[in-house]
Amino acid sequence: MVKEGSRIGEIFQLGQPIGTGGSAVVYAATDLRSGKQVAIKIDQGKDPSTRDRLRHEAFILNQIRHQNVVALIDWKDLPNQAVYLVMERLEGCTINQIIPQNIGLPFRSVWPILQQILDGISAVHAKNIVHLDLKPSNIFLAVLEEHHTQVKILDFSIAKMVGEKMDGHPVGTPGFVSPEHILGNCAADPRADIYALGALLAFFLTGQRPYHGQKPEQILAKQLAEAPETLDVSYLGQSKDLQGIVLKAMHRDPEERYKNVAAFKAALNSIRWSSG
Ligand SMILES: Nc1ncnc2c1ncn2[C@@H]1O[C@H](COP(=O)(O)OP(=O)(O)O)[C@@H](O)[C@H]1O
Ligand SMILES: [Mg+2]
Repeated sequence: MVKEGSRIGEIFQLGQPIGTGGSAVVYAATDLRSGKQVAIKIDQGKDPSTRDRLRHEAFILNQIRHQNVVALIDWKDLPNQAVYLVMERLEGCTINQIIPQNIGLPFRSVWPILQQILDGISAVHAKNIVHLDLKPSNIFLAVLEEHHTQVKILDFSIAKMVGEKMDGHPVGTPGFVSPEHILGNCAADPRADIYALGALLAFFLTGQRPYHGQKPEQILAKQLAEAPETLDVSYLGQSKDLQGIVLKAMHRDPEERYKNVAAFKAALNSIRWSSG
């Protein structure tokens, strides 16, 4: 079991845990050779499927180099011990922490952030990779020198190569996972990320997830049957253009969505001076 204070591979000294999601834990860590601060995502040695996911995440992340995607520095697969990913250490917070709950932000404030997300996802798609888990807690707003901020897309643990068959498990995140992935039995397609980008846009402008429900199954069932519920909320409710863009991005039929990130961006670009 890995814990705070442990040394990993005699090279990294683990500090405090800075994030947990599924079953891996992300720790602050120091590279003892250089003193450099890094982040290490490591499995806790309990579940072989977590290791497989981390190996897969390393394989995927290793292919992408872009300023809006977290950088993988190294990764190791220690026999009978652990799999870990060494990443650039980000200071800042995930995007859910800066969007006022139930209120959201006006489009003019959201647009600079959204453009960086779209740039990052374009680079991901250019490598034939589909993220499949875009949601507020997987988008980091990193604070760089002189208070400059930069979006970094995190968490490629369920990403797939385009065309790779879905095994139906894990399903992604209710409210953001595409309807075709809820149903399973489909091949990975970038338009699943377009759906999630529509849901993210709705979240930014309303401070709410696009579908409500007490239980995950209720949200998933609504996604299959109904249009998003938050269209009339706050800043999204003020613009029919923005509503139309969210509805198209989140269309239940992938054929009816924007066909790629560039088309989604072009639609948003055309309204940015007229609303919000
Ligand atoms: N490179 C990093 N630097 C700083 N914090 C990070 C980094 N990577 C992840 N985190 C934090 O850890 C959390 C979980 O990481 P994530 O990769 O999303 O793991 P999971 O697959 O467990 O959801 C993130 O939401 C974020 O707060
Ligand atoms: Mg995550």
